[in-house]
Amino acid sequence: MRVVTVCTKPFAGQKPGTSGLRKKVKVFSQPGYLENFVQSIFDNLPNEVKGKTLVLGGDGRYFNDTAIQIILRMAAATGFGRVLVGRGGILSTPAASAVIRKHAAFGGIILSASHNPGGPAGDFGIKYNLANGGPANETFTEAVYQRTQSINRYSCVEAPDVDLGALGETTIGITTVQVIDPVADYAELQETLFDFDRIAALLARPGFRMRFDAMHAVTGPYAQAILEGRLGAPAGTVVNAIPLPDFGGGHPDPNPVYAADLVTALADPHSGLSFGAASDGDGDRNMIVGRDFIVSPSDSLAVLAANHACVPAYSGGLAGVARSMPTSCAVDRVARSLGIPCFETPTGWKFFGSLLDAGKVTLCGEESAGTGSNHVREKDGLWAVLFWLNILAARNEPVAEIVREHWRKFGRNVYSRHDYEGIETAKADRLFAELRGKLPELPGAEISGMRVEAADDFAYTDPVDGSRSEKQGVRVLLQGGSRVVFRLSGTGTEGATLRVYLERYVADAALHDVPTQTALAPLVELAEKIANITAITGRNAPDVIS
Ligand code: G1P
Ligand code: ZN
Repeated sequence: MRVVTVCTKPFAGQKPGTSGLRKKVKVFSQPGYLENFVQSIFDNLPNEVKGKTLVLGGDGRYFNDTAIQIILRMAAATGFGRVLVGRGGILSTPAASAVIRKHAAFGGIILSASHNPGGPAGDFGIKYNLANGGPANETFTEAVYQRTQSINRYSCVEAPDVDLGALGETTIGITTVQVIDPVADYAELQETLFDFDRIAALLARPGFRMRFDAMHAVTGPYAQAILEGRLGAPAGTVVNAIPLPDFGGGHPDPNPVYAADLVTALADPHSGLSFGAASDGDGDRNMIVGRDFIVSPSDSLAVLAANHACVPAYSGGLAGVARSMPTSCAVDRVARSLGIPCFETPTGWKFFGSLLDAGKVTLCGEESAGTGSNHVREKDGLWAVLFWLNILAARNEPVAEIVREHWRKFGRNVYSRHDYEGIETAKADRLFAELRGKLPELPGAEISGMRVEAADDFAYTDPVDGSRSEKQGVRVLLQGGSRVVFRLSGTGTEGATLRVYLERYVADAALHDVPTQTALAPLVELAEKIANITAITGRNAPDVIS
């Protein structure tokens, strides 16, 4: 078989964001577009990739199979010794991380646009993970971007498509392509972490029923194999279990808006359901729902940390915890009571990777429904569900009661995120320029009845490798532990998305049941006064409230 070198020209804007390069399918399917980006990754790998193992898979969205065949031919031209690819081209993001680690691969390519819609009119994405199983760092992604801007050729091996439907090995050039069971390594890893016998006993209790909504995305086969297969939950516990290229036309983002069916079912006393969960397109996010009770992701992280002793893998104690800056400070309070460090990092899982590798933290999470631990280097949706099940099995209390008791002990960090989507980039830039300009005058100011204690543009120095990340979002810290944070999304594919994160600390248990948006109304007013959102963007209200 022949290696072919194809002349190419750079495409503008192949700049990876928080989680790799994400664009519309129609952008990705232009001839050479995917190839240029993949070659730019390979051009930044050291020579010793030759003979090493690459892991490859994706969330099964439209264009996944086409992309996999292209990447296989390019990986062969680069000289990888072996490519481990999930059957059907499927690997959830946390499973890819687990496979990279278990097989000591050189790295992995994950094809996903996470929770963004799929299908021909939807989004596609690609990212490169390192040997630790985690997303590449900023230095690497910047180098890839630089390469995309000067690239003039890519290489591939001339070869027919590989049959991804059956387990087994084939060769392309000097490279062995091994089609693996996408679930096996992942399921085996989960079984080492949790008390599967105890969870199985919970699932067998007559009064306990759960539903897992896979949203027609990648976690269907994983949840079926683990919950229904290994743990014995009744068939049908996992709904929307077959991954579809367009996610059934849905939006595979596990939040109260897009997983409304699940929330409604749990709110219906006749459903008999006591626990609900969902995951996103590529399986790294999670939503946890109790009977008529939605657990906010920031609270979920805090509850997992506070109840770590219920889970065999963590019962020996936590080294530390980490949360992304916009995530609520609920977990900070748990860390304080446990006497362990709590790290505040920029948004994006890669920042947790360095802390996890150095053994500084055991659990970490983000407000955007991502939670995880040192078992892999990605957030892990089903892992969070199993963690909750393990807690429920050990404590034998309803979800809502566990969270309310947590609030009584630690106070409640009432929390919401308001998103303004598809803003013109120039307007978003202006908003941030003006906001940043105002920062020096905010401390001490009294706005909407609240005193500003501090305000800054969040910057982070990685405590392990010393790398510096600046302009990671504007924080306005208010009296009494409340906060407003402003940040621009790094994963959107149309215009700019402004995220306003609102958090109010309520110590008094008598006020814990005030509806979230009511409790946060003064903070919304303050955010508007500080950032002039309506005047600058022309928007009166957010597009999405989560
Ligand atoms: C969003 C989330 C962030 C998460 C990322 C990838 O990024 O806010 O927490 O790490 O998706 O799942 P953003 O669009 O805000 O840059
Ligand atoms: Zn995701």
